Amino acid sequence: MNKFFLNLGIQPLANNYLPNFRIKQKKYNLKLNFNTKSKIVSISKRISSKEMFHSKYPYRSSLSKTMIDSFKKISLEISKKFNPDLILEIGSNDGALICNFEQNKVIGVEPCSNLAQITQKKGYKTYDKYWDYNLSKTLKKKFKKIDLIYSANTLTHISDLDEVFRSITNVLSNSGVLIIEDPSLLECIKNNAYDQFYNEHIYVFSIISLKNILNKFNLEIFDVKNLQTHGGSLRYYIKRKKNKKINISSNVKKQIIKEVKFGLDKFITFKKFGKKIEKSREKLIKIFTEIRKNNKKIIGYGATAKAATVMNYCKINSNIISFFIDTTKEKTNKYLPGTNIKILKYHSKLIKKNDYIFLGAWNFKKEIFKKEIKFIRRGGKFITHVPYPRII
Ligand code: TYD
Repeated sequence: MNKFFLNLGIQPLANNYLPNFRIKQKKYNLKLNFNTKSKIVSISKRISSKEMFHSKYPYRSSLSKTMIDSFKKISLEISKKFNPDLILEIGSNDGALICNFEQNKVIGVEPCSNLAQITQKKGYKTYDKYWDYNLSKTLKKKFKKIDLIYSANTLTHISDLDEVFRSITNVLSNSGVLIIEDPSLLECIKNNAYDQFYNEHIYVFSIISLKNILNKFNLEIFDVKNLQTHGGSLRYYIKRKKNKKINISSNVKKQIIKEVKFGLDKFITFKKFGKKIEKSREKLIKIFTEIRKNNKKIIGYGATAKAATVMNYCKINSNIISFFIDTTKEKTNKYLPGTNIKILKYHSKLIKKNDYIFLGAWNFKKEIFKKEIKFIRRGGKFITHVPYPRII
């Protein structure tokens, strides 16, 4: 049974960057649920994949050094540990992972054709299609044996998880390995990072819930690693149950115990989280209004989907945050979804004149603080809402 625990208000599609904020855009009520049986946390309203992932999709994995480094590291690990003949990446974006492999060793699947074209031009076989059973049938016919499937921050974006894993098991070789990584529900709840929930993030996985889904497909997790990416993610290593050649690491049990201890299998934990988030909103609004009362200027750094979720939940507009800066070309001179706050192309000059910067990309805090050391040295302050609203 799905039980409701938090209402994040009326939200736009969080990656819908428009050139004019007056353009009418689709909005929906963002509510979060916990399933008492499967332990899955999900958003209540499902937007169709076609509306979310299309030829104008703005998110690029290759724009952050943190992500590039992370993909490089896992690519080396994949080659060394599993030495696969053929790798399939579901959600290959602009190629941050696949470009670490030779062209004949890897296939990409990326429904956003603007992104798929980037890797196609570099000679990587990339299907600009949604991941579904039909595509898995095509791949099975064409490529006899896919022995490693990798997918980062993608499977949780697909509504029908049964079809996702049925399609995976259709193409994965008997001794094959599936590696998936996604934001960790434990980190998300611990950090009060409610902005991990928006239309694209239909689910936020815990190891407990993922185990329940995989069970249905005779798949099991044999290792799990904690990552720093996206504010705390989990990388799951998965195999078929019948493959006894791979041992199950003690990390799996440790992670399950950690999550059970925190209460990720109980509704009450989420109910309490919901209450904390309402307080977090009040506190963030208070910080912003006090700064503005003193006529100090605030800008936003990183026009993320997460920032759009926070701004819409807290009903913040350009009277509070003058503008956002972002390095992504596709977001420049557009508006943060659902707000009248403009996004300007990142330039160090834009940082100089401000007193406060709201960290929209709080998950890249380290990288950003390093880059903006001059701003910090001259007394500039950052504002964040993670793990609780404060000025740094
Ligand atoms: P991410 O946190 O992955 O976004 P989302 O919540 O949308 O999934 O994206 C980071 C955004 O921050 C991206 O638009 C690029 C931007 N960014 C900068 O502008 N400068 C930086 O130094 C960094 C690290 C990110």
